[in-house]
Amino acid sequence: MLKKLIKIVAVSMISTTIVFAANFNAQAEKDRKAFVDYFLKKFENPVANRDKYFPYVPLKELKKDYIYPLKFQDFQDGPLSWYRPSKEQFAEINDFPPYEIPVDDGEELFNKPFANGKTYASCFPNPAIKQNYPYYDVHRDEIVTIGMAVNECRVINGEKPLKYGKGDLAKVVAYLAVKSRGKKIDIKIPNENAAKAYEAGKKLFYKQRGYLAISCNECHVKSAGKRIRAEALSPALGATTQMPVYRIKWGGLGTLQRRLAGCVKDTGSEKPKMQSKPLKELAYFLTYMSNGMKLFGPDTRK
Ligand code: HEC
Repeated sequence: MLKKLIKIVAVSMISTTIVFAANFNAQAEKDRKAFVDYFLKKFENPVANRDKYFPYVPLKELKKDYIYPLKFQDFQDGPLSWYRPSKEQFAEINDFPPYEIPVDDGEELFNKPFANGKTYASCFPNPAIKQNYPYYDVHRDEIVTIGMAVNECRVINGEKPLKYGKGDLAKVVAYLAVKSRGKKIDIKIPNENAAKAYEAGKKLFYKQRGYLAISCNECHVKSAGKRIRAEALSPALGATTQMPVYRIKWGGLGTLQRRLAGCVKDTGSEKPKMQSKPLKELAYFLTYMSNGMKLFGPDTRK
């Protein structure tokens, strides 16, 4: 009898957890599906659907320069996914990928012993982990990014943390990215506070900002697949799969947060600090939107 009772309680506990777990990401899943659906439809046939999505793009350009139909995974290529001239240009550049040397440096740093004799491997025995970042740590009640994880590994091993966004930190992250290639992004929303963090990130994405009073959504959803001068605007779907990126403009690697902070600044807003709560929330939202997509980073950009 007692055994049976324990079993019933145990089973009901398990099912309650499952119901709750499903609930916390219900809204996010709804958002994500709509997001994916929008991009797949938009890039299914830009020529046939010109009136709906690209009314101001010359037909000649749509026919000549647009790559379509784009499938889910194709969005990993960001601005290169749909715009043939950029895709061809960067295919050539990536014959000798400029990120290769920094990735090698990252591998060396990863395996180089700290002063205490241990290496990063003591924290990351399996380096194929990028698909789970950023994640919501329910015990700490905050978003943990992969950059934070790298620095926390250093600190518990008695080393100084690295500067965020670029340099050695970006190199170690790039090495972890290479090791995680092909893994599907798997961001979870484990509790109510995580759902709140997701919502906060979403709000930032849709918020008009800067002197242009323009939102991320305006450029990377509504105008994704159009050009601003010589820049092909990238779809927000897949926008985190190829990070960190080697940018020719930077002459080096930069992390997702470095890129996001740059885009915020370019709209005329104050540049957010690396690992600040809003920037992490924005990254959490944006990465969730690409759940299920295979990682591919690093890649090269303008
Ligand atoms: C005025 C238009 C504009 C706004 C607003 C804008 N961006 Fe961008 N963003 C660009 C341009 C141009 C690029 C470079 C080409 C590209 O990748 O789209 C870029 C690049 C990016 C990239 C790199 C994509 C890749 O694959 O390399 C990310 C990620 C990004 N933006 C995120 C954001 C986020 C998040 C916001 C809101 C805080 C934002 N952007 C706001 C214009 C904009």
